[in-house]
Amino acid sequence: MNWQNAKTLVLAHRGSASEAPENTMAALRLALQQQCDAIELDIHLTKDGEIVVCHDETLDRTTNLRGCIGEMTLADIRQADAGSWFSDQYAGEPVPLLREVLELVPLEIGLNVELKLSYGGSIEHKVVALLREYGRLSSVIFSSFDHRMLYRLKQLAPEARISLVYAGKLLRPLRLIEDFELEVEAVSLHHAMVEREDVMAIRNSGRQVIVWTVNEEEAMKRMLECGVSAIITDYPAKLRRIVG
Ligand code: G3P
Ligand code: MG
Repeated sequence: MNWQNAKTLVLAHRGSASEAPENTMAALRLALQQQCDAIELDIHLTKDGEIVVCHDETLDRTTNLRGCIGEMTLADIRQADAGSWFSDQYAGEPVPLLREVLELVPLEIGLNVELKLSYGGSIEHKVVALLREYGRLSSVIFSSFDHRMLYRLKQLAPEARISLVYAGKLLRPLRLIEDFELEVEAVSLHHAMVEREDVMAIRNSGRQVIVWTVNEEEAMKRMLECGVSAIITDYPAKLRRIVG
């Protein structure tokens, strides 16, 4: 998977999250069918040290169970139904393990793994070990709003690619990247905060600009005009039609 593609990449947000329950294998499979270039997903660590795919730190919103992932074992979490809240059609979809995602998603499809806050312990060591086991450590882009977590991950694994997520319009975005000290592959920005001149400056420095979460056709077209590297969307099929 080449993140430095000349053409803007279609990056499916939590899978194809508008048409299937987010961050489930069903949503990932649908995104693959819809010819996404890459998939963005969120990870947490369970109490017993397993990496699961879920956006929130609790199961409350996206499953039929309640509880904090970091305080639950994998066995507890696997009792949850992560599909019924979305539609009966998806009843019984489990909360996936990251390992299962790596088994499903072909190597030519990119992965943007977003590290959320982990109460179950240090997720950085675990995710580096898992991605190394699958030979995918240097092809995945790890992102997080928690830049210290990305710093620790990059210290552990210098070959890992990282994207700094932030919400805002900085006066000089390149300074954020340069101040990081370790090499930064990309930044992940809210699309409403994106200006073409910033995209050009970052891309001319050899880094990528990923934008989230772009669901309207007009905004998709504006991002293409800005020359972003990848667009995160809940509607990968729609974006594929526009990008071509
Ligand atoms: O990479 C950031 C993007 O995923 C948006 O954040 O809240 O959907 O994980 P969120
Ligand atoms: Mg995310």
